[in-house]
Amino acid sequence: MLRRRLARLFLGGTAGNERLTANTASVLIVLLAVEGATLLSLRSFLPVHVFVGMLLIPPVALKRPARATGSCATTAERPST
Ligand code: HEM
Repeated sequence: MLRRRLARLFLGGTAGNERLTANTASVLIVLLAVEGATLLSLRSFLPVHVFVGMLLIPPVALKRPARATGSCATTAERPST
């Protein structure tokens, strides 16, 4: 069961890319919501803010627009031409 789910998750190709992007998007929405909530009382939730902020770095890096990558460590999602 878990193996099949993992296999589907790391399918590769356009289907795999679509799944990865969709999964990343849902993780991103949840984490951004939590991160936003900590801002309401940043003083008391600063440790949570920093922790969740760190968790946000990978999905944000994956979901950022390809155009914004520049030349530094680029993993452009689509061709530039
Ligand atoms: C997408 C991720 C993040 C978002 C959207 C975000 C957003 C914000 C915003 C809007 C504030 C200003 C709050 C205010 O001045 O009232 C803030 C403050 C702060 N953030 Fe983040 N943050 C993110 C990630 C992080 C990470 C990864 C760290 C730690 C490495 C961090 C550390 C801090 C700290 C220390 C403050 C307080 C600064 C101060 O005392 O003025 N944040 N954040």
